[in-house]
Amino acid sequence: MEQLLQQIALYRSEIAAAEAGTPEAVEEFRIKWLGTKGLVKAVMAEMKTVPADRKKEFGQILNDFKLFVEEKYEALKQNNSRLQTPDSRLDWSLPGTPIPVGTRHPLNIVRNQIVSIFKRLGFAVAEGPEIEDDWHNFGAMNLPEDHTARDMQDTFYIHQNPAWLLRTHTSSVQARVMETQKPPIRVICPGRVYRNETISARAHCFFHQVEGLYIDENVSFADLKQTLYFFVQEMFGKDVKVRFRPSYFPFTEPSAEMDISCLICGGSGCNICKHTGWVEILGSGMVHPKVLENFGIDPNKYTGFAFGMGVERITQLKYQVNDLRLYSQNDIRFLKQFTGVV
Ligand code: PHE
Repeated sequence: MEQLLQQIALYRSEIAAAEAGTPEAVEEFRIKWLGTKGLVKAVMAEMKTVPADRKKEFGQILNDFKLFVEEKYEALKQNNSRLQTPDSRLDWSLPGTPIPVGTRHPLNIVRNQIVSIFKRLGFAVAEGPEIEDDWHNFGAMNLPEDHTARDMQDTFYIHQNPAWLLRTHTSSVQARVMETQKPPIRVICPGRVYRNETISARAHCFFHQVEGLYIDENVSFADLKQTLYFFVQEMFGKDVKVRFRPSYFPFTEPSAEMDISCLICGGSGCNICKHTGWVEILGSGMVHPKVLENFGIDPNKYTGFAFGMGVERITQLKYQVNDLRLYSQNDIRFLKQFTGVV
């Protein structure tokens, strides 16, 4: 009797340790233990040798043993079917497949740099709609309907409603700021603008601007110069020289365009600077009193300066990109060259 108990104990530990990595091995286990000629049957057959007074006790032990084997068989079966599912054939120890991370668009990189420089000077960012009305884009900016200077910016009008147009500059955002805020005003307006130009390496029908506006008491042309000088040094480094040339914009008086010494040839003359050693990077001026009046700002109390630059232009100088079209062609080979730059 004790021998039988010992035998069952041995079987139990053998079964507990059993493994089956394939369906064949699971089947082998079944035949060995639960088959018609299996060991469970054989152990059960020993029942007849058990004395009558211990039959009940042994019956229980043998039943438990049978259950134990059946449970193990189920477990092996389940484990095995999990191993057979497609996922399980993956090698979890392999290093992961890198997920390609996108790169920033060069125009966004430069736009962010411009914005962050002016933010450090206390300028806030203002945004506005790309579809504008005539007033915000032109009228308020001292460009009445018959003004010849409208030709400076060939405009896309909305076909269904010619009272609407695609903004030609982000001065329209400055208009919206002056409409809703009282001085002191200190904002920059980054955004996309549209002009009806034939697309070429040097021109596009849309581009990006950052315009700025500063209105307060006692704002002078010296403030304008110093602000823009600071910007250029931060953007292009301390060695860059600047010069202001008198210019004309309907919304500023006096007006000036700012050039910087050519970064490509260092001032000795090349194609980019048309052999002058200088490249124009922005327009600027003191806000025209008429513009202030348009928004109920007293020009006798307040003065202001404004400026506007093209992001493409700055990017072109920074990264020596010669063809404007590259910025909007979405060619990954071009775009990915700017990885790693913030
Ligand atoms: N709005 C002008 C343009 O788009 C730029 C500019 C802004 C010039 C502010 C002077 C002052 O060309």
